[in-house]
Parts: sequence; C-alpha cells; structure tokens
Amino acid sequence: MRLKDKVAIITGAASGIGRSSALLFAKEGAKIVVADYNEELGKETVSLIKKEKGEAIFVKTDVSNEKDIKNMIDQTIKSFKKIDILYNNAGIELGKNILDTTPEEWDNVISINLKGVFLGCKYAIPYIKKGGSIINTSSIAGIVGFANLAAYCASKGGIILLTKQMALDFAKKGIRVNCICPGGILTPMLERFIKNSPDPQATRKGMDSMHPLGRVGKPEEVAYAALFLASDESSFITGHSLIVDGGFTSQ
Ligand SMILES: NC(=O)c1ccc[n+]([C@@H]2O[C@H](COP(=O)([O-])OP(=O)(O)OC[C@H]3O[C@@H](n4cnc5c(N)ncnc54)[C@H](O)[C@@H]3O)[C@@H](O)[C@H]2O)c1
Repeated sequence: MRLKDKVAIITGAASGIGRSSALLFAKEGAKIVVADYNEELGKETVSLIKKEKGEAIFVKTDVSNEKDIKNMIDQTIKSFKKIDILYNNAGIELGKNILDTTPEEWDNVISINLKGVFLGCKYAIPYIKKGGSIINTSSIAGIVGFANLAAYCASKGGIILLTKQMALDFAKKGIRVNCICPGGILTPMLERFIKNSPDPQATRKGMDSMHPLGRVGKPEEVAYAALFLASDESSFITGHSLIVDGGFTSQ
C-alpha cells in the first residue's frame, strides 16, 4: 500500500499508460480520479478499479479546456476532499513534419500535450499540500528529435523544461514535480501508429529493434515508474525526467 489514503488525479486514464497507472495506484491504496475525454473507456477504468475493491470516480475532461480542468479539480475536492498526486498524462500524437502540419493541428497538439500540463498544475497546485507529487508524461521525443513528429516533439520537449521550472517554483511548498519519458510503449496510441504506417509488420519489428532491450515496453513498466515518483519513496527527487525507454536514448 505505497499510496495508502492518497488522492490521485490521472489524466488520460481511459487507456494505455494512464489506465495501467490508475489500476496500479488504486491497488496501492490511492483514491483515483479518472480524467479523460473518452467517457466510455474512462468509466470502464473506474469499473476495473471498483472490481478490485478500489475507489475511483470518472470526470469527463478535455485537458486543453480550462473550464473542464476547473471542473476536474472541483469534482475531486467534492468527492475526496484533497489532492496528493496529479499525473498529467493525457496526450495525442501527430505524425507530421512542419510543412504538412496545419496551424490548427499544431495548436491542437500543443494545447492538449503542453497546455494541458499547465492548466492541470495551475488549478491543482493551490490544493496540493506539502508532500504532494506531480508527474507529467513527456517522451523520448522530448529528449531527441524524431522525423515527422514536429508538434509532438515540441510539446514533449516543453514538458521537460516546464517540469524543471515548476519544480523550482514549488519546492518551498514541499511539492515535487517530475516527468517520465517513455520509449515506445505498446498502448492503443502505438498500435494506431503501427497500423497506419505503410508496412505495419516492418514498423512493429523496427519499433522492437530500435530499443536496445529488443522490444517495446509495456504500460505497466511506465506505471511502476510513475508509482515510484508518486510515492514518498522518491521524496528527495524533483525536477527529474525519468527515462523508461529500454535503453533507446543511451545509444
Ligand atoms: N505509447 C507510447 O509509445 C508513448 C511513448 C512516449 C510517450 N507517450 C505518452 O504517454 C501518454 C499516454 O499515451 P498512451 O500511449 O497511453 O496513449 P493512449 O492513446 O492509449 O491514451 C491516451 C489517453 O489520453 C486521452 N486523451 C487524449 N486527448 C485528451 C484530452 N484532450 N483530454 C483528456 N484526455 C485525452 C485519450 O482519450 C486516452 O485515454 C501520452 O502523453 C503520450 O504522448 C506514449
């Protein structure tokens, strides 16, 4: 019970890394706010948690929308009275270079991936007390460039520096801010990317072999990193980018 009696908001918890983290955090004793714009799958995450005797609520949230974020915080306080952990994990991917990216697509990626982190922190931090932990999901695409991922790389790079910046501003308040940089993780996002590629079989093989450990990661492998950053076990770690990439960025 590494998160006993803690309250955790997890955005993007309807699927992939977010869902896996929500299930793990609940197993470790946290009360979970599943915040996602996918109502059907978000409610399914809540059911999965409740099936294991955990506590969770679903709040329909578009993380790029200020009103939705304010509502997410209000609902959390109404149901659970406090916030200990904010895991800004919702994100989308756009496989385009800047020439093919429209200004609207650019704004959409930055609004969800980067502004979503800003809004989540802005409205949650006033409620987070000493000992609280914020985790943001960046990516290896925030550390090194990838061809045809212009807006995505920009948004994920921004998250790493915003994480360090906020770590400084809120250290005195006793709030830690860290991010996770996953490599390729087999979630619905990566499955869509593979399926939409010209040769899915070759793409899948290439995804496996680009990681020195010889395979893509599993959502649980990111969830365990998030659990460590969420728990008091990481109490002297702030401003850090925890890379979970099977060795990819060590090359
Ligand atoms: N899967 C990977 O290989 C990988 C690698 C590095 C980083 N990431 C990052 O991990 C995070 C989770 O991705 P995943 O792979 O689990 O993908 P996923 O598509 O399985 O899950 C993403 C979740 O975010 C939600 N979401 C998207 N836009 C939203 C919005 N505006 N408001 C609220 N919810 C929204 C989706 O409904 C979905 O439930 C993302 O930030 C992604 O960029 C993923």
